[in-house]
Amino acid sequence: MNVSKRHGTYGFDAPGAIAGLLFGAIGLIALAVISFVQDILAAGIAFLFGGLYTLASAASYLYTTRRGKFAVWAEELQRLQGDERLLDIGCGRGAVLLMAAERLGKGRATGVDLWRKRDRSGNGDSTTRANAEAEGVSDRVELVTGDMRDLPFGDDAFDVVVSSLAIHDIRDAEGRAQAVREAHRVLRPGGLMLLADFHHTPAYEATLREIGVVDVRRRDAGWRFWYGGPWFGTTFVEARKPA
Ligand SMILES: C[S@@+](CC[C@H](N)C(=O)[O-])C[C@H]1O[C@@H](n2cnc3c(N)ncnc32)[C@H](O)[C@@H]1O
Repeated sequence: MNVSKRHGTYGFDAPGAIAGLLFGAIGLIALAVISFVQDILAAGIAFLFGGLYTLASAASYLYTTRRGKFAVWAEELQRLQGDERLLDIGCGRGAVLLMAAERLGKGRATGVDLWRKRDRSGNGDSTTRANAEAEGVSDRVELVTGDMRDLPFGDDAFDVVVSSLAIHDIRDAEGRAQAVREAHRVLRPGGLMLLADFHHTPAYEATLREIGVVDVRRRDAGWRFWYGGPWFGTTFVEARKPA
């Protein structure tokens, strides 16, 4: 799968965060220039380092949201056989959902979301539908409006459940635990769960262990999934529902 040849438009994760980093960098570099003009050398150097550091963070964030996370997920999705029923929780504009659908020639990819715009620029099921058309997979994609804490699907309905950078959007810990329990409920025995997030992943693992999942582990998703730097990296929680 060539991730640089996506035909849909996928926007930016948390657009406010990128804007904050870019404005912060510009502000710090402007302060550096002012300090140098006024001959305050130490302050100028400090502001310059701060500005360049913040600029590098913005570049890392932009790379991840536009390219890196696609590359990482493309590798993760290579394990699909092609006939699975897959659910993407908090699918947004379909970054992961539609790459999965490309691999599901005999399967089905379902995306569920509340389409909140503050979490993803240009969010909306019409955007995701248009992306599915653009990627040529609309025949095997279904979009459902729903809350991940109360999924509108029956028990054991999916072979694979994925989620990327979505569960953390729930503010309270009990709500996030409920979302993980729901992901487990709709997964068939023996099915694969793959949750990527940059916060709270130890709690996701703990929730799964509490409900009896023993085949569960966390692993670092690597530099291509950094949102600004290594201090804001992404972790995968990978689990198999007991058969
Ligand atoms: C940062 S976006 C990530 C979208 C997509 N997974 C991706 O990687 O591009 C998080 C998504 O979670 C959705 N979301 C937030 N809270 C939700 C909830 N309680 N139930 C369903 N979706 C939710 C948002 O609408 C948004 O589309």
